[in-house]
Amino acid sequence: MADMADTLAATIPLGASPRPRDTLGRGMRDLRISVMDRCNFRCPYCMPRETYHEQYRFLGSQERLSFAEIVRLARLFARLGVRKLRLTGGEPLLRANLPELIGDLTAIPGVEDVALTTNGILLGRYADELKAAGLNRVTVSLDSLDPQVFARMSGGMGGVEDVLAGIEHALRVQLTPLKINAVVQRGVNDHTVLALLERFRGTGVTVRFIEYMDVGNRNHWRSDLVVPSQQLLQQIGARWPLQPLSPAYRGEVASRYAFTDGAGEVGFISSVSQPFCGDCTRARLSSDGALYTCLFATHGTSLRDPLRGGASDEALLDAIRNVWLGRTDRYSELRARLRGEEHPQPKVEMFYIGG
Ligand code: GTP
Ligand code: 5AD
Ligand code: SF4
Ligand code: SF4
Repeated sequence: MADMADTLAATIPLGASPRPRDTLGRGMRDLRISVMDRCNFRCPYCMPRETYHEQYRFLGSQERLSFAEIVRLARLFARLGVRKLRLTGGEPLLRANLPELIGDLTAIPGVEDVALTTNGILLGRYADELKAAGLNRVTVSLDSLDPQVFARMSGGMGGVEDVLAGIEHALRVQLTPLKINAVVQRGVNDHTVLALLERFRGTGVTVRFIEYMDVGNRNHWRSDLVVPSQQLLQQIGARWPLQPLSPAYRGEVASRYAFTDGAGEVGFISSVSQPFCGDCTRARLSSDGALYTCLFATHGTSLRDPLRGGASDEALLDAIRNVWLGRTDRYSELRARLRGEEHPQPKVEMFYIGG
């Protein structure tokens, strides 16, 4: 079925670059760009402090793609079918002058949506500039309103009040629709999900609960720490009746439900209990310019090397196209089998390629 973006894409003259489909027939629709591998949080499920300590060697500024390099690549991705860009990290707001990059990205022909995922701490400071640069919307990670639980899940960094102030500011300047991502871990924050919802019901902000995933190699993931979305759905539905909504677009990651009393909606991202690889159209670009085709990939393909080696646009397009044409990823669907491997290959870390 051709969706609206397909039809639109067909009408935009973006050069003769046929849009590749991977081995499972999936196009490339979204590009998630990690602009910064550092973060000012140490969420144990993402960047546990015992690994990401003072001596940990993050990328140097020369190793990271420059804004000009990011923009050049994003243009090429758009020629291959990408319509949605999401800036991630680490924490993207730690990258100096980020609004400049956003201005250039929003001007790329074919790009329909530019969003940003942030932990919210610096949002109060940057919301106006981000909006003025053309950013459409932000998604804020916020796992709990309870200060103790928040501290445990952010690795003792930041404060919930600052994140809430950042959200208020973003709403004032209309970086909307604003979504909140909350990772749920059994025994850690699962007792605080109703309070989080209560705070945002009726405000136009959508809270989405994410099943704790086995991303990276260092978060000590265990399946019994995952709270299946079905269980949360029942718990939430018992408090506020819910009604399922159809996906807003093909391949939407979250399953959405409306509160029947009209107070908005809630989403569930259930990559563990109900994998959604079948419709996965997401490519990921690491802060040092490697292309990854899955959140759980074991290796990426450097685009920075050819880029800095003087490759032409056509050569870069070929490189990207070839990676996508060979793509077979469906980790979440194969999770049980792949985790059972005796010597599994190390996976890429999530902060490095973004969420
Ligand atoms: P919208 O465009 O607002 O619908 O958001 P999105 O679908 O791009 O979702 P977002 O970037 O906010 O992703 C939310 C979370 O879902 C991420 O932080 C990840 O935890 C998870 N997620 C997103 N994409 C993938 C994916 O391709 N695979 C898996 N396994 N998880 C994903
Ligand atoms: N499981 C699920 N979501 C995760 N994120 C980071 N690590 C994990 C994990 N192990 C999410 C965060 C944030 C985004 C950047 O990635 O909640 O919203
Ligand atoms: Fe930073 Fe986000 Fe990872 Fe937490 S989940 S450590 S805020 S990148
Ligand atoms: Fe896409 Fe990989 Fe996530 Fe599956 S596990 S939805 S292929 S990123």
